[in-house]
Amino acid sequence: MKKPLLFEVYPNLENSIAWLPLIKKTKVHKLEALGDYLGTDNLWIKRDDQTTEFYGGNKPRKLEFLFADARRKNKDPVITIGGLGSNHCLATSIFGQKLGFKVAIILFNQPLTPDVQKKLLLFQYFKAEMFYEETIKADQGLLKQYPNSYFITGGGSDQVGILGFVNATFELKNQIEQGEIPIPKIIFLALGSGGTLAGLEIGIKLANIDTKVIGVRVIDKSTTSPALVKWLIKKTLKNLKMFSNKIPEIQIQKSVIIDDFYGGEYGKITKEGLEAVQLMKKYENIELDTTYTGKTCAAMIDHIKKEKDKDPILFWNTYNSVDLSQFVNKLKFEDYKSLPKDFHLFFKKRLFLLNK
Ligand SMILES: Cc1ncc(COP(=O)(O)O)c(C=O)c1O
Repeated sequence: MKKPLLFEVYPNLENSIAWLPLIKKTKVHKLEALGDYLGTDNLWIKRDDQTTEFYGGNKPRKLEFLFADARRKNKDPVITIGGLGSNHCLATSIFGQKLGFKVAIILFNQPLTPDVQKKLLLFQYFKAEMFYEETIKADQGLLKQYPNSYFITGGGSDQVGILGFVNATFELKNQIEQGEIPIPKIIFLALGSGGTLAGLEIGIKLANIDTKVIGVRVIDKSTTSPALVKWLIKKTLKNLKMFSNKIPEIQIQKSVIIDDFYGGEYGKITKEGLEAVQLMKKYENIELDTTYTGKTCAAMIDHIKKEKDKDPILFWNTYNSVDLSQFVNKLKFEDYKSLPKDFHLFFKKRLFLLNK
């Protein structure tokens, strides 16, 4: 993209908000076969799994604004935080390396899965400096060690990263206007740190799209909530208004959040989530994950089945589908020995097969 649609709609923002290009516009299309199976001819997907050719998912949209902000402020390294298998930390490591930043990541516990082992080796492959914390907290010592660092909050969900999803909504608006998709009655998306939902909620108001966004909570209640999303929306709007007097007053309603598909623990594989992953693979050959998008898809399937909803419904796919095997194939299980000692306990048993 040459410049964000957000800057085209609000030209004043261009001088004040830093941005650099990472993503390309993502497709929207009908999920014919899955829709058929569920008894609807109106099921759609936004392919944010293909936001970039290096690594897809929702993170690159946020990183366009975050890395640009770090660069404009002359900050380095970029420090961020996430679970042991964090997609956000991987995306930050990949794009940080591409853009010439040093990246340090603070990783906290989550259930050990094959994906977690792979991610830990990939962080190292992309040269991130890794630090372990049992529970979520930014290591103050680390921040002191790097006084010129740029800290990206978990999931990239601050008033800067969220702009990526305000912008994404204008992309959707454009696709509606071009007739690529009808106005969705509901948009389903995964709710983690809240930035994706907050951005879309602001975006649909600014772009005037008559739709309802539903966040499917996939992390603990203590770390995400409607109140948090509201706070993120307020902070982001305040930031936008500071730079453009064209941003209108917006009534912020309490976000609609579904809690029932979380499964009680971050990263835990649930029966419904796994089934949804399998259905999406079987009918559409699209890969979802069991932590975020599988649970979200399960909530959407449940809604369609229970409500027999035949109105347009959009599944916003936030998971990366870019094949990382070119990198994974270069990894050896034994590479874990060069990770910081704190991470060795996650490699007592080999959970993943290479070349697979
Ligand atoms: C695949 C995937 N989907 C959705 C989310 C949630 O997005 P957010 O943190 O903006 O709520 C994440 C966040 O880590 C993610 O990795």
